Amino acid sequence: MSKMKDLFSGLKLPAKFSTSLASLPLDDIFSGKKQLVGLDIGSSSLKLAEILENKDGFILNHFSQIPLEKGIIEDGVLIEPGSLTEKIKDLFKGTAFNRKGIVTSLSGHSAIIKKVTLPSMEDAELRDLIRDEASKYLPFDNMDDVNFDFQVLGPNEFNPHQMEIILVAAKKEVIEGFTDAIVSAGLSPFIMDVDTFALETMYEANYDFEENHIVAMINIGASITNINVVKGSISLFTRDFTLAGNSLTEAVQANHGLTFEAAEKMKIEGPEGDDLTKKTFRESLLSYADPICTEIERSIDYFRSISGGENIKKVLLSGGVANAPGLAETLAQRLNIETEIIDPFRKIDYNKKKLTPEEIKAIGSTAAVAVGLALRRIGDK
Ligand SMILES: Nc1ncnc2c1ncn2[C@@H]1O[C@H](COP(=O)(O)OP(=O)(O)OP(=O)(O)O)[C@@H](O)[C@H]1O
Ligand SMILES: [Mg+2]
Repeated sequence: MSKMKDLFSGLKLPAKFSTSLASLPLDDIFSGKKQLVGLDIGSSSLKLAEILENKDGFILNHFSQIPLEKGIIEDGVLIEPGSLTEKIKDLFKGTAFNRKGIVTSLSGHSAIIKKVTLPSMEDAELRDLIRDEASKYLPFDNMDDVNFDFQVLGPNEFNPHQMEIILVAAKKEVIEGFTDAIVSAGLSPFIMDVDTFALETMYEANYDFEENHIVAMINIGASITNINVVKGSISLFTRDFTLAGNSLTEAVQANHGLTFEAAEKMKIEGPEGDDLTKKTFRESLLSYADPICTEIERSIDYFRSISGGENIKKVLLSGGVANAPGLAETLAQRLNIETEIIDPFRKIDYNKKKLTPEEIKAIGSTAAVAVGLALRRIGDK
């Protein structure tokens, strides 16, 4: 289902976009050869993943990452497009990916995901009506400024004359901000996804699940936390909020009188000193994470209240903050749900000539969105 989310849909491709597309050899695009790479534009780092497919399944052929200084992207909003372009160029330097189509994503307040119920109708009728319907549910004054995509999830559980639809929308200027930065780096944006659904793509490729299996995917990055509760391959509930790893860094910064960068380093590597100092520091980090856990708990409680007590079987944690020692255990206790760190390489193999097992382990949960993006294929709709 996650394959549907392409915010370029309905968009008349800007000339420069079609030009850059035309510069890709058409036979590569349409022969089914794997010609896309995933670019996760996070606020703390850019991640680039390429996944190839052979007879045994998917293989991660490339992964690289470079940090972004604070202020280039804030809460999913692009503030410094020129700096982003330079960083994208750095990331792609030395790769042969400049001829490939880029799959990237929006997150946080940049993209709106909404589930709506409509009377049951045929696809053709829905396509005619969806724009007007979407305008009722989306908080935009003028739908001409907006790109949106939708997917029919299926009939309403309680009323067979109604169907459930998921809408995804973003302002054109927001999408163009990111695509322009990518185009300026000499690359061709091809699919615009959202982080939440990229994670779903990653989940579907890696986890065996039954259709009634309910899992909460929680992605805690630097500035945004994404929550997506799925039943099988259907999304039941999504929420993004702008509170994540940076809040821990800021607390370390304030309590230790450090710069943001020094606090970030201390947060990840731990303080100098004996075991007790390190243990105390780890405990303090968990207490700084308390507001994030509270917000997650609230969302899950809300989901439970609207879903008639549907039982979440498992929480799968991703994003850099998933690696904070003790966080998974804390969430498991607070939510009373088994919680584990997501593994994007559970079923996806990796190129042993280019990547080591240590690297794969280290990138783990941070690579989850990029892997989901890199799994998209030409023709996915
Ligand atoms: N071992 C660790 N312990 C605690 N926090 C960590 C650890 N490793 C990384 N982080 C934090 O994870 C965050 C980065 O995660 P990630 O790469 O998923 O975010 P992002 O995609 O750049 O940001 P966003 O999606 O919010 O825009 C940073 O705040 C970083 O400090
Ligand atoms: Mg992210």
